[in-house]
Amino acid sequence: MNELSRPPVPPIGLTAKYPELGTGPCDTAIYHDPAVYEKEIAAIFKRSWYMIGRVDQLARPGDFFTYYLPTFRLEVLIVRDRDGQINAFHNVCTHRGNLAENRKEGHCQGLFVCRFHGWAYDLKGKLARVRDEEGFFDLDKSQLGLKPVPMGIWEGFIFVSPVDEPAQTLAEYLGDQGRDNAGYPWGACTQSYQIEAEIDANWKLITDSPSEVYHIPMLHPTSAAPTMMASGNPMGRLLDVEIRGPHRTNSHYSVMAEPKPVQKLAYFHAAAAQNVAVDDKGYELPVGINATRSPHWTVDLICFFPSLQFTLSAGMYTAHQVWPLGPNKSLYQQRVFVRPATNAAERFGQENSMVEYRDIVMEDFSTLERIQRALDTGQIRQFHFHDHELALRHQHKVVTDALAAYDREVAA
Ligand code: FES
Ligand SMILES: [Fe+2]
Repeated sequence: MNELSRPPVPPIGLTAKYPELGTGPCDTAIYHDPAVYEKEIAAIFKRSWYMIGRVDQLARPGDFFTYYLPTFRLEVLIVRDRDGQINAFHNVCTHRGNLAENRKEGHCQGLFVCRFHGWAYDLKGKLARVRDEEGFFDLDKSQLGLKPVPMGIWEGFIFVSPVDEPAQTLAEYLGDQGRDNAGYPWGACTQSYQIEAEIDANWKLITDSPSEVYHIPMLHPTSAAPTMMASGNPMGRLLDVEIRGPHRTNSHYSVMAEPKPVQKLAYFHAAAAQNVAVDDKGYELPVGINATRSPHWTVDLICFFPSLQFTLSAGMYTAHQVWPLGPNKSLYQQRVFVRPATNAAERFGQENSMVEYRDIVMEDFSTLERIQRALDTGQIRQFHFHDHELALRHQHKVVTDALAAYDREVAA
């Protein structure tokens, strides 16, 4: 076994980089208290931006998709107009509130027609047609267009704000995390699939779950552990955690030393499909990805606080979005983005990665529901975080600080 396949075990010492986070146990009330949950929606979620899709989903004028943001019970309609502009609207007909467009995605010839009474809106959201208009009283159509939603684009991802007047711009929200991760070939992974699951767990338990790999040898012994941990990293340690304001990135170590035979075959072919840009085009990873430039790096977990995370390797990525539905209920959405495979072997490698990733998160979720039960019944009042559970400690502090700042604002 050569030096690359069996690197040294990553050391303890991540938390020491961030002394402001402390080392003591953390109070678990923020994981279940209904009053905390309500405050989090106001103090954190309504002040953040949400990634709802990519510009490549709207290749031609008239292409559109709709997206439901369950935490806010809002649905948006995104469309490319004839000038090439991308517009975002509340998907709400201004007559009496039905959906302006029923379909999830498609192509609009020019008018979105509400299926309740037939009011119709053009690609810029203007109310273009009212059925039997003469029966209305002093209708000012110019004031009855679809209501715009604040929208912004980063690296081809479309983000929206759930409130009309965002507390911060998209660029402010993304901060250094946006800057340091720009330049990855996000747009090359044009194929995607999505799964979702409703989980009886607080949103933070779900974002915590991939944010530490301490559990991998125990919870994922036959799925993730054979490749990520193996005997070269038996305790499940990270290469690095890099904090950027409320956001953070975990860099993962891999030995790839003991894959199962099917994993070995799949990874060989998937890697061929995934790493084209790196190998053939002299592409370099942005500074935020594999920030330590370790030769033993495989995957980063890039977190945009509060609820968007990407797991990202050199040429394939997965977006994880968690939507809080209550203090102990959330919707998890996983969308895997891959390059179009150039042959059947590459496709097999990609499919294996997708199925494997789905299975790994399913192994997590049943555990999270049991943890939530212990939290709800007051059986566990403190979490004791390991040095390599630093991302969880960071999230705890970001949430606690945001709630305290909100209390001060309200008091003032
Ligand atoms: S609610 Fe849309 S036309 Fe009546
Ligand atoms: Fe896990």
